[in-house]
Amino acid sequence: MKFFIDTANIDQIKEAQSLGILDGVTTNPSLMAKEGITGYDNIMNHYKTICDIVDGDVSAEVIAIDFDGMVREGEALAALHPQIVIKLPMIAEGIKACKYFSDKGVKTNVTLVFSAGQALLAAKAGATYVSPFLGRLDDVSTDGLALIEEIRLIYDNYAFETQILSASIRHTMHIIECAKIGSDVMTGPLSAIKGLLNHPLTDIGLAKFLEDYKKGN
Ligand code: E4P
Repeated sequence: MKFFIDTANIDQIKEAQSLGILDGVTTNPSLMAKEGITGYDNIMNHYKTICDIVDGDVSAEVIAIDFDGMVREGEALAALHPQIVIKLPMIAEGIKACKYFSDKGVKTNVTLVFSAGQALLAAKAGATYVSPFLGRLDDVSTDGLALIEEIRLIYDNYAFETQILSASIRHTMHIIECAKIGSDVMTGPLSAIKGLLNHPLTDIGLAKFLEDYKKGN
């Protein structure tokens, strides 16, 4: 399973990259705004900075909601860096733009996916990634993981190559459950990724090993 970090925070991206387990980054307009990155030039430069830190795919989201605008923005984003993946909203114009870019061999990520039907359309349009938002479904008392399972089943039935990018991850158990289902990718906060490190028996065991070593040396 690929690990993406879901942030535009440079320090967090560097920290995740330094662990050696990072496969890419996802951003969205809210995450950019959270870091105070505003204005076209600053936003474009920020994407370039992120691409220089990580080796893998970096999802950059279009703001336009019409086909022509999405194509214009997407082409500018794709020209920025070969690691850029065009992130498109799950609306009719987004699906058209997805098909346009996938026909040209440009990587895409269809975002804001909340149903199996939407995921099926994204795959039909040749999306590289589909992003079901499991945490936001859980937030409204709907089983987000059940959606990941449904999409896995449908994609396997037809050998769709679109990768399931489980998004809106909230905690470590989401990551583990996604891995059990066979999600291709997960994107989550640094806290959820680092949470996977923790086990009290590891800490107790390590303390004991170090204590015993000191006794004999
Ligand atoms: C996905 O690419 C989105 O950026 C993200 O995972 C949304 O997560 P949130 O529900 O925590 O905002």
